[in-house]
Amino acid sequence: MDGVIYMAYLLAAVLFILSLKGLSNHESAKLGNYYGMAGMAIAVLATISSDAVTAYVMLIIAVGVGSYIGVQKAKSVEMTEMPQLVALLHSFVGMAAILISWAGYISPAAHELTGAEQTIHLVEIYLGIFIGAVTFTGSLIAWGKLNGKISGKPLTLPFRHGLNAGAIIISLWMMTYFASNPHTGLSTFMLLVMTVIALALGLHLVAAIGGADMPVVVSMLNSYSGWAAAATGFMLGNDLLIVVGALVGSSGAILSYIMCRGMNRSFISVIMGGFGTDGSSGGSADAGEQGDAVEASADDVADELSNAKSVIIVPGFGMAVAKAQQVVKEMTENLQKKGCNVRFGIHPVAGRLPGHMNVLLAEADVPYDIVLEMDEINDDFPETDMVLVIGANDTVNPDAMERPDSPIAGMPVLKVWEAKQVIVLKRSLASGYAGVENPLFFKDNTRMLFGDAKESIQSVLKSL
Ligand code: TAP
Repeated sequence: MDGVIYMAYLLAAVLFILSLKGLSNHESAKLGNYYGMAGMAIAVLATISSDAVTAYVMLIIAVGVGSYIGVQKAKSVEMTEMPQLVALLHSFVGMAAILISWAGYISPAAHELTGAEQTIHLVEIYLGIFIGAVTFTGSLIAWGKLNGKISGKPLTLPFRHGLNAGAIIISLWMMTYFASNPHTGLSTFMLLVMTVIALALGLHLVAAIGGADMPVVVSMLNSYSGWAAAATGFMLGNDLLIVVGALVGSSGAILSYIMCRGMNRSFISVIMGGFGTDGSSGGSADAGEQGDAVEASADDVADELSNAKSVIIVPGFGMAVAKAQQVVKEMTENLQKKGCNVRFGIHPVAGRLPGHMNVLLAEADVPYDIVLEMDEINDDFPETDMVLVIGANDTVNPDAMERPDSPIAGMPVLKVWEAKQVIVLKRSLASGYAGVENPLFFKDNTRMLFGDAKESIQSVLKSL
């Protein structure tokens, strides 16, 4: 039986790797999801059929209740709520790691080990609880900040870096005692104290980071949850959990890195906190200093679109907020029928999650071949008649290239201002995620179509 289970685990691990590969590309993303689902089904079935599992009644009830809640949640969640759902799910992984590691410590089997085997086992338990507890409370705070239940403002306690460093140093010191003095009253007490310290550390680490930086934090917590699972896998001697944990841990870390690079921020500056303010749009730009923004009407925009031969649509977070993707697709079809070459330019960190815009456009059935990445389309703006910037702001801010003292200096941006005409669809002159003004709104070839993006495009479409 063991041999069959190992083979099943191996198959599941291969399916998980294929799943990650599939998810890296739009065309194969659906297939990637199926691979992941198949891998997880095989992993669960193989684990259930192992001799170690006996409590079938409890298992069926737990799986039944869990699956029901999961299906209901997945059906009802809005795309814009995805980051907070992911944060909440990571907190479950953290909680599971704490509970399993504590169970592993209390289990009589743990008392049978001796020598180096015992020390290694105790370190695995300790790390499983530590990483799990940081992930658990950190994810709960991220969830609260993302859905507005907790203020997005960074909590900046005095000596906060010292507090974090102190918590880590004390935990490491206790680990050395815990691992070399197995199962004494004091070492159990230390495990308990470390659990409380790690819970507080997770809470404090994430509370110190502004709401707007939460997407990177969620991806980082994703990585932590993977390492917590891997530590649990070592403790349980479960190879599949080790492989899956390592896949999640490393892909989460790579994702955090990609997000930081797309924003031209260092990972450390995100973790140290203090950049994000509130997650929502900041104050309005100082129009007086920059010149005046010129307003356009939906009829003007429709008229000019009718004559344009080439149009690039640049979507951003505002398109997600307005849920405008479907009507954007209808407008695209309308323009294509008039013989216009319509393409989409996607910035790597447009929206609030990697691939946010791609998912929304795919949801609206926009063909993949007209959706281009920033690097593929950035040189085409000078030959483009019109650019429609729909709810994007920082990702099209010329200051990133032109003003070295700008907070977003160095962030790669879409050079929309090089097109013949630019129409920006947003509700006001307010700043975006980074809270910086955008001189694009005041350029000679830019006009603003104020209002909710969905309503504005509906009006343009009507005129068209
Ligand atoms: P933002 O710079 O955040 O700008 C979005 C704009 O949408 C806002 O200025 C807002 O202006 C407008 N808006 C909001 N609701 C709207 C509605 N209903 N209708 C029309 N417009 C609306 O967005 P972006 O250009 O997509 O840039 C993304 C930002 O998020 C970057 O700074 C990036 O670094 C950051 N970020 C991204 C990620 C990932 S991985 N994607 C992760 C972390 C951070 P009004 O209020 O005036 O309407």
